[in-house]
Amino acid sequence: MSVKRPKGTQDFLPAGSPGFSPEFGASNLNFLTATAQQVLERAGAKLIFTPVFEEAELVKRGVGDSTDIVRKEQFTVSHHGDHGGYILRPEGTASLMRAYMENGLKQLPLPLKLWTHGPMFRAERHQKGRYRQFHQLDYEIIGSDAALVDAEAIALMWNVIEALGLKHARIKLGSIGDAADRERYNAYLRERFTPLYDQLSPDSQDRLTRNPMRILDSKAPVDQELIADMNIQPMLDFLGEEAAAHFAEVQRTLHAWGIPFDIDPTIVRGLDYYRRTAWELHHEGVGAKSALGGGGRYDGLAQALGAKDPIPGIGWALGVERLLIAMQDEGLTFPAPPRPALFLAALDADQLAVTAELALGLRHLAQVEFAYRPLKMKQIFSEAERRNAVWVGFLGSDEAASQTVSLKNLDTGEQRVVAQAALADVL
Ligand code: HAM
Repeated sequence: MSVKRPKGTQDFLPAGSPGFSPEFGASNLNFLTATAQQVLERAGAKLIFTPVFEEAELVKRGVGDSTDIVRKEQFTVSHHGDHGGYILRPEGTASLMRAYMENGLKQLPLPLKLWTHGPMFRAERHQKGRYRQFHQLDYEIIGSDAALVDAEAIALMWNVIEALGLKHARIKLGSIGDAADRERYNAYLRERFTPLYDQLSPDSQDRLTRNPMRILDSKAPVDQELIADMNIQPMLDFLGEEAAAHFAEVQRTLHAWGIPFDIDPTIVRGLDYYRRTAWELHHEGVGAKSALGGGGRYDGLAQALGAKDPIPGIGWALGVERLLIAMQDEGLTFPAPPRPALFLAALDADQLAVTAELALGLRHLAQVEFAYRPLKMKQIFSEAERRNAVWVGFLGSDEAASQTVSLKNLDTGEQRVVAQAALADVL
């Protein structure tokens, strides 16, 4: 049997492949990245790349060891003889904060805006929109706790969505409060869940002692059914004065800028580093349970990673595959991948070298392909058509003698004979 790709992963294919589906089109991935790049770099974000594997400790301390990501979904990386303490990164925020701290990035103008994109890994159960290797577009702004920064981060996510042409995404906005607010909320949840201990999933029984808030984003059906019947007070009811004022300021600013959002008092997010502003972006095309993106403030993250003083930060990530699914759902079209401006071929072996030289000499201008062996006239046209070339050009002995090329435009039918030296003008 031939070797297959691992479950929950995708091959991103060139358009036209038999196995092609638009959400996994290689050039669509590029299109999303280029769109995000334009929006984010105009706001001053700097591109950064970090390794796809990290110390397991980074994720344990950053994302939190009571989260599903750490408890169930880690891909560990080992190689012969090492300590085996590496994992494939499940997200980018902890890595970016690590890189910020490790490389003295605070020397750059603050707050520092960073953006990155690339594959992330979570060993989740595979279903539509949920993969084991997926891609994120990630924006972070580090070094300020101003509400204006929160509002701008949310606005930038919205701007990316608008630039892609998506019309039916909705922002669900909440706040997770400060550390003390979370503690009060956890105490409340502990009180509510303790009498029902026996009905919780084994994981949630464990969460009850370590971090009851994580019970609320449990994926276990028994937990979800229980929670649905409990009429639990939302996190938003537990905000302290400062966090509430900050949250109100974020909302006021978003209103002033015309960024649409709904308040969702129940947002808790699935990662432990969040403080204050937290949000998710939803879209019917990917289903209610799967967000297109999510983000939030993480003022406690740096200290969890070993910083002496707190470093405030906020950011978001959009799921690339889910964006592509949503775009398809809305019937949006993707830009067509570039097509050859010219396909050149020789009729006889004698003209092969000239066609190759001409093709190479034109590539600073346009996409130009050529045939690697002499072809019959019919083959030349069918090869050019299969490649979707604009012009097809061929050389036989006549063209070689007169140093010309015979051309036909496959879009318009126009035919010309041009001097080889003048080919560039046609393109
Ligand atoms: P997250 O909510 O865990 O946040 O993931 C962000 C997005 O990544 C999700 O909304 C979803 O679109 C996509 N995603 C997550 N898991 C999968 C999966 N298994 N398959 C397909 N797509 C997936 C974070 O990762 C935070 N680092 C976001 C952030 C940045 N917060 C602050 N800064």
